[in-house]
Amino acid sequence: MPAEKFRVKLKIKEPALYKQIVNILQGFKVFEIQGENVLGNTDLLILELGDDPDHDFDMVHRTSESMEVGEIFLASDNPDQSVLIRAMQAGARGFFGPGASDTEIQTALERFMDRQKKAVRVAAAPRVGRIITVLGSKGGVGTTTVAVNLAMAIKEKSSAISVGLMDMNLFGEIHLFLGIDPTYSWSEITKNISRLDPTFLKNILSADPSGVDVLPSPGNFNNQHVSSDIIMRLLRVMQQTHDYIVVDVGQQLNEAAVKILEMSDFVFLVAVQSLPCLANANNILISFRNMGYPREDMTGIVVNRFIKKASIGLEDVELSLRRKVMWTIPNDYATTVTAINKGQPLNRLAPNLPITESFRQLADMLIDPPEHEEKKKKKWWVF
Ligand SMILES: Nc1ncnc2c1ncn2[C@@H]1O[C@H](COP(=O)(O)OP(=O)(O)OP(=O)(O)O)[C@@H](O)[C@H]1O
Ligand SMILES: [Mg+2]
Repeated sequence: MPAEKFRVKLKIKEPALYKQIVNILQGFKVFEIQGENVLGNTDLLILELGDDPDHDFDMVHRTSESMEVGEIFLASDNPDQSVLIRAMQAGARGFFGPGASDTEIQTALERFMDRQKKAVRVAAAPRVGRIITVLGSKGGVGTTTVAVNLAMAIKEKSSAISVGLMDMNLFGEIHLFLGIDPTYSWSEITKNISRLDPTFLKNILSADPSGVDVLPSPGNFNNQHVSSDIIMRLLRVMQQTHDYIVVDVGQQLNEAAVKILEMSDFVFLVAVQSLPCLANANNILISFRNMGYPREDMTGIVVNRFIKKASIGLEDVELSLRRKVMWTIPNDYATTVTAINKGQPLNRLAPNLPITESFRQLADMLIDPPEHEEKKKKKWWVF
């Protein structure tokens, strides 16, 4: 929702009612009246029921579930109480009966504005969830494998922990890794950022059977600019609804990715034992230093596909990056590729293999000890 303007669309045939509502809307000075046929999102649709109420109610029901319209008010000259009840059942938030007074309409609009403001206040509430970002130092190093299986391993620790998994790649594959057929992606949300609140977000996340809530990638290019502001809002709401948010940003360092890095509580930089990859990882670490974030103690190098006896050993990696490697994940192509092809996370496909255990131990390093355990030093800050 724009901070001071609400977009309103009117579908009203009766001229006197149309004029009455327009006058009231204009009096508030915060409503921008859109043409009836203007495409795109609107914060409030005011619709007059026509000669075919069944058709209209059906349309209201579908529209109220879509993401293009924030709220719907209905108007009808039918005095029958059942029309009001059907209107509410169909999802209308306001109803103007025959001869509705200016005061009634004004009150309904004031309530609408209150609800919108409340949604913004909730969105600005203090942060809770921890953002864990997984960044690849090169394409194909296993960034998505790490993000997906880390999220699963965190969730596996306790059903009480809520975990969100965001695929920030434009043509990301997390939904394929999990065999999910998503209805919405983060790009749809960013288009509707004005309506974003925890309830709205919960409704559109794709749930994996594990309980991890997935925000898949758009999977197509629509030339939409995703500003750092939009990303910040999206993540802030995710933080209110989830204890951990794992973000697969791929290898990009665009505006959105940089904002995510800035907001992250911890960043895993995924590398493999290869020279080009280490060269890239080095450049990324230099960029972090130049940007001033993520801080060194909030960045962990993960060597994926780790082979002990490779020509570039762990020490060589550490020497070339001038950093300790935080974690290694064993090389197991057969299992990871089968998991991807079956659309299953590792803990479902191969719960007992070393690679799966490795993700569990990595998750252990991120999660605070359960409440009932003696309050040891919180693991989160051990890094
Ligand atoms: N620990 C591992 N051992 C062996 N192979 C792995 C491991 N992790 C990932 N792979 C394999 O590497 C390939 C790429 O994995 P993944 O898609 O996770 O990488 P990515 O960095 O996200 O790639 P992209 O750049 O396309 O987004 C897959 O075929 C996967 O099976
Ligand atoms: Mg990937």
